[in-house]
Amino acid sequence: MATLREVARRAGVSIATVSYVLNGTRRVRPEVEARVWEAVAALGYRPNRVARGLRRRRTHVLGLIVPDSANPFFAEVARGLEDASFAAEYRLILCNSDGDPLKEQRYLEVLLEQRVDGIALVSASAAPLHLSTLQASGVPFVVVDRDLPGLEADCVLADNLQGGYLATRHLLERGHRRIACITGPSDLTPSADRVRGYRQAMAEAGIEPPDLWIRRGDFRAESGYQAARFFLSLPPGLRPTAIFACNDLMAIGALRAIGEAGLAVPRDIALVGFDDITLAAYVIPPLTTVAQPTYEMGRLAGELLIQRIQERGRPPARHLLPVRLVVRQSA
Ligand code: RIB
Repeated sequence: MATLREVARRAGVSIATVSYVLNGTRRVRPEVEARVWEAVAALGYRPNRVARGLRRRRTHVLGLIVPDSANPFFAEVARGLEDASFAAEYRLILCNSDGDPLKEQRYLEVLLEQRVDGIALVSASAAPLHLSTLQASGVPFVVVDRDLPGLEADCVLADNLQGGYLATRHLLERGHRRIACITGPSDLTPSADRVRGYRQAMAEAGIEPPDLWIRRGDFRAESGYQAARFFLSLPPGLRPTAIFACNDLMAIGALRAIGEAGLAVPRDIALVGFDDITLAAYVIPPLTTVAQPTYEMGRLAGELLIQRIQERGRPPARHLLPVRLVVRQSA
């Protein structure tokens, strides 16, 4: 593969002059331009897209880092973001951090090496290791789903506090008082805000939930299964009659534990989830849950990122999108 240097040598000009001719970034004398194009044709030189991106500083490629690409919630965020990117003729590189801040940092470095034009980040932790690297890189980025307090950046979040409140109030309105909560990773804002909404609704009903009723999960099904087994092991007077799980995968895990104990949902234990992933409507019984505007979060994040690339000086935009309770049969 011929190089820029070989084209310059054959045309008898500098590498910079070849670059001016190829990119049309500066006028050169016609006879010089002709010698450059003759050398390009003779050597079969083809610009390297990444190298050209380096010169033009535009690769028309975006990066998205999510904590769990196997979770349907993040797949839907990616779909929305990819649709917005594709419509603006950008391509998308999807990275899965597995909820590991070190892996997330490595992927960030990979995306910066690839000279992406912008990055959408669903952070694996509340204090990403690499925020300073990302800010110092000057590469536009948007924060999605998990807020990073104190960071001046575009962000697209769902109203998790309202969602936790709606889920819990729904159970209270059905007469439940012993309502347990399976949280996500407590350092992440979506989980922390949902638990705040749970506590707010319980406090309004004059209930101070004991610590026994709040178990930490990790947003994966197994942690919901284990948390529900713990709640079922409590003595009858303390055992919850309802569970609010801070995402649908943990609610589905809890469903299995309840079934294994020979109990029925909602007859013996009511259950509410969060996200409204597609599966929520297909488990038995279909899951009552809090729907996030998941696709819209991804699409809006893509639009904000592309606007930021085109207009860097804009003030950061902070979007808090509404959630809604979807009543099915599990509560
Ligand atoms: O299901 C994954 C969870 O992590 C979702 O509730 C989403 O809000 C993300 O934070």
